[in-house]
Amino acid sequence: MQKINDLRSKIAKHQDLIRTATERVIASGHFILGPELNHFEELFATYLGVNHCVGVANGTDAIEIALKALDVKAGDLVATVANAGMYASIAILALGAQPLFMDVSLETKNTTLSEVKSAIKAGANAIIVTHLYGLAIPEILEIAQYCAEQKIPLLEDCAQAHGATIHARRVGGFGNAASFSFYPTKNLGALGDAGAVVTNNASTAAKVKLLRQYGWTEKYRVETLAGRNSRLDEIQAAILSELLPHLDEDNARRREIAQSYTSNFHSNELIPALDAGSDYVAHLYVIRTQHREALQAHLFKNNILSDIHYPIPDYAQPVFKNRFEHINLKSTEQLAREILTLPCYPEMTDAEIEHVIRSINSFTL
Ligand SMILES: Cc1ncc(COP(=O)(O)O)c(C=O)c1O
Repeated sequence: MQKINDLRSKIAKHQDLIRTATERVIASGHFILGPELNHFEELFATYLGVNHCVGVANGTDAIEIALKALDVKAGDLVATVANAGMYASIAILALGAQPLFMDVSLETKNTTLSEVKSAIKAGANAIIVTHLYGLAIPEILEIAQYCAEQKIPLLEDCAQAHGATIHARRVGGFGNAASFSFYPTKNLGALGDAGAVVTNNASTAAKVKLLRQYGWTEKYRVETLAGRNSRLDEIQAAILSELLPHLDEDNARRREIAQSYTSNFHSNELIPALDAGSDYVAHLYVIRTQHREALQAHLFKNNILSDIHYPIPDYAQPVFKNRFEHINLKSTEQLAREILTLPCYPEMTDAEIEHVIRSINSFTL
């Protein structure tokens, strides 16, 4: 069965690097907040072209801790998209803040400057934008400029866009801070949970460091109650440092697969609109179809798994009951009904790619 993602083939490809990194840490006897994390933080900050990287336990913590470091407080309104899997909303709610939902473009599936402007007019105290599916938000520069003018902190959620570039800059350095997840299936993935906050601001980085470890200003001295235990461990950091040099070649292969789909699918309707000016890193290849159930069944019959990222807009999650029943974001709703994710990962073979293309092209109603 053709899967959406196959971590076993990724591990097999990099097994020597992974083994060396793991054994190095085990032999060192240092497992938490040591030289491996310092090294990875430096490598990743340099790769992105930002001043600081602070490792944390996962991508959801990265959002929550970054928001705290940007002085978002309980009761604040934080704008976010509702089509990105609820992670940002969970982090916002964990702070006691309130999500304010922005719609997205049907074509890019990302939010827009006009949505950000409306959110700030509606009282947002902070903005989270998500570079979804590996596509840098086309208007990120304008959004960052507008937020800076309005003195509203901007957090980029880059969990699906490691290495994506726009205006010749990698995402992660446009706002006041950015969050990353290194969940195993991400473009840069660990062998467990891991995440990071990156920023160009030294005091924001210092706050994140404080917050990720109990709020300690020094060992056993707590001066703030907002602290957590959210650390990226040495084994994961060592593995990430070994995998980072392969990120660009993996992203190039993802892009090649996406381009192959795009140029060989017969139905133009299915093809995602990619912004030519940005360097898409194809975290997920997501098509739109009004016949999703039938297409999914057809693919399954051809031994191909597909998935939906994501089926429920945040505001419609059952947990909220009728709290957001007045919200109905047109494009977000339509995407939730029509999107379908096809297999796309660097280790896919040419034969597997061709099989997906043939199966998509043989679909009839
Ligand atoms: C867009 C986005 N934001 C945040 C997260 C949360 O990351 P994590 O699973 O590491 O908490 C994820 C992935 O899971 C994600 O895709």
